[in-house]
Amino acid sequence: MLDRVVDGAGADGLEAIDVVTRPALEADVDDVLVADGYILGTPANLGYMSGALKHFFDTVYNDCLDVTARRPYGLYLHGRSDTDGARLAVEKITTGLGWRLAQEPVSSIGPLDDATGDRCWELGAAMAAGLL
Ligand SMILES: Cc1cc2nc3c(=O)[nH]c(=O)nc-3n(C[C@H](O)[C@H](O)[C@H](O)COP(=O)(O)O)c2cc1C
Repeated sequence: MLDRVVDGAGADGLEAIDVVTRPALEADVDDVLVADGYILGTPANLGYMSGALKHFFDTVYNDCLDVTARRPYGLYLHGRSDTDGARLAVEKITTGLGWRLAQEPVSSIGPLDDATGDRCWELGAAMAAGLL
């Protein structure tokens, strides 16, 4: 899903947008502060986001509060049965941060297929286009 999101964000006409990817466990406050928008990705685990993404939020939350409010974000999720809990958990935190959900999240259940890939591409492209 990440590869397709990145492909979309780098589509023709979007060359002005710098796309930076970070594993959740490596992203730090500076990464968040310098970015104009965010695309988050996570599996659904035990009805929640990944521990890695939760750790990311724990790490950056206080320093990003207020400063990053109203910045746009997108979200993609992958699960085997139900991603609703993970989505809700992310949205609670991003609401606290004041981030703006700029595109409908992409949720994939089960094996990834071409249609999901296309939706991920569109998510990346739409998020990047929104920053032009
Ligand atoms: C401990 C554990 C908990 C999981 N909990 C959920 C869950 O609550 N909802 C869900 O849809 N999938 C759940 N899954 C499935 C993962 O989301 C899935 O394995 C992940 O999206 C990666 O997909 P893949 O195994 O096909 O690569 C869980 C998997 C594990 C290992």
